[in-house]
Amino acid sequence: MPKVTIDGVMIEVPEGTTILQAARMIGERNKADRHVVPPAMCYYTKLKTSGGYCRTCIVKVSKGSDKDPRPMPKPVASCRTNVMDGMEVQNTTDPALIDARNGVVEFLLINHPLDCPICDQAGECHLQDLSYENGKEASRYEFERRTFDPIDIGETIKLHMTRCILCYRCVKVADQLTDGRSHGVINRGDVSEISTYISNVIENDFSGNMIDVCPVGALTDRTFRFASRVWFTNPQDAHRNCDKCCGKVVLWMKGAEVLRVTGRKDQWGEVEEFICNTCRFEKKDLADWKVEGPRQIDRHSVISQGHYNLERKQALLTTPAPNVPELARNKELKER
Ligand code: SF4
Ligand code: FES
Repeated sequence: MPKVTIDGVMIEVPEGTTILQAARMIGERNKADRHVVPPAMCYYTKLKTSGGYCRTCIVKVSKGSDKDPRPMPKPVASCRTNVMDGMEVQNTTDPALIDARNGVVEFLLINHPLDCPICDQAGECHLQDLSYENGKEASRYEFERRTFDPIDIGETIKLHMTRCILCYRCVKVADQLTDGRSHGVINRGDVSEISTYISNVIENDFSGNMIDVCPVGALTDRTFRFASRVWFTNPQDAHRNCDKCCGKVVLWMKGAEVLRVTGRKDQWGEVEEFICNTCRFEKKDLADWKVEGPRQIDRHSVISQGHYNLERKQALLTTPAPNVPELARNKELKER
């Protein structure tokens, strides 16, 4: 089995493993080594052919392999480059690579609005985290940014194309989890956009997973929009018997009210098992679910700061729902 060293940490991995997967294996083996894991905005383990679009996962290969130790001449996308025996990789230890990744983030932010204060994804947005770690204070872009009006994709999903970074994850979901391909990215270059034909897949039972895989706030849950900042909610693992999906979800609660239902995400922010639209959008009553306990959010984001324990959970479940003026305001914001 090939051995690879990333930022000085060595691991032996099965043949065919990518550098990104090897780095994640190191991070799973020892949390203290997680710095070796490159960020990934478009790769998604459970979506075939994902990766290779965003370039945030670039790394420097300073030694190709034991057989051919020459370094690779340019940064490579770690999600698309396989490990070779004896390979040496730099993720955080090469200043030129960090500079290149900062450039990638600057490109991603050219059109992305800095509307985190009003965006539902704030607190669980991978681009927000990435900008914090690799972003520059100011943009050098002087041209007019492209903007789009938000589009309702059916009853439950809203597309804010202005925030989209064209990672293609939602396209892969629509392609691989829903029936019939009637969507995609139209045009090319800086006029590329997610086609509104994507609205044709909304009838499908698994289309809501597009919301979970979107790394930014481009696809939002219309049943949750503006209901609460996510860090004010109390996430609980819960399950129900569902004949369409695994029925294992996270309930994002405020008091006894279920504000949002999502799939369960792992430490890399990827959904463990995709859930159906019935569980996601139609089961907002606590009685529909068997609550297992507080969800451990394993991320450096602000949402991991809510340390709920079981006693506190009981207290929260008996807290009255938000007061009437707050609900009225939420309704007003939803209608905007
Ligand atoms: S809408 Fe979201 S998931 Fe789809 S391509 Fe844009 S950023 Fe990616
Ligand atoms: S995660 Fe590798 S190119 Fe996007």
